[in-house]
Amino acid sequence: MQPARFISFEGIDGSGKSTQARLLADRLSRDGHAVLLTREPGGSAGAEEIRNLLLTGDTGRWSAETEILLFTAARRDHLEKTIEPALAAGKMVITDRFADSTRVYQGATRGDLRATVDRLHQLMIGREPDLTVLIDMDPATALRRGLARRSGEDRFEDMGLGFQETLRHGFLALAHEARERVVVIDGNRSPDEVAAEVAAQVQARA
Ligand code: TMP
Repeated sequence: MQPARFISFEGIDGSGKSTQARLLADRLSRDGHAVLLTREPGGSAGAEEIRNLLLTGDTGRWSAETEILLFTAARRDHLEKTIEPALAAGKMVITDRFADSTRVYQGATRGDLRATVDRLHQLMIGREPDLTVLIDMDPATALRRGLARRSGEDRFEDMGLGFQETLRHGFLALAHEARERVVVIDGNRSPDEVAAEVAAQVQARA
């Protein structure tokens, strides 16, 4: 098993994964690791600009195909400018979302575009996290939570409950397909209980 130095968190909108990514980063820092906590889309100056294009505006602003290009462009910049330098400097990298989000949000919601996502990923990104933590969550509860935040970045939440249910199934199918890399954690519990299980999974891959 690969030691987990590059860890991604995935899940539907409002699943609590950002909180969990932060709690894990805090815990690993307390344990004496050098840790970089980052996010997608974003995590570098250029990718944060692309984030704004992707997450604001009408739900129909971009087709799924155009989104694949924009998310992959943002990821390439994030990888070059932030992730690879941090790993090379010996840091642990924790990212709030990575390529699995594109596989599910763009690849499995508006037609089957998974092969397109995979080909572009292979061409332009070509790497996976050592460990992916999927926070699994009831879509109705998660959507209430996500929309209650009114972050102004709600383009995907605005696609509705049916969309979030499709996402949940897509993530669970992906976790099954990539079982050597993805662990599924039940997010329908208190943040502390979820964080303890996340920490145990990371410890097991130390
Ligand atoms: P978040 O910061 O709340 O996770 O928001 C990011 C949004 O972007 C979320 O709705 C998921 C979406 N997204 C994709 O559709 N594809 C991707 O590849 C990534 C990284 C995010």
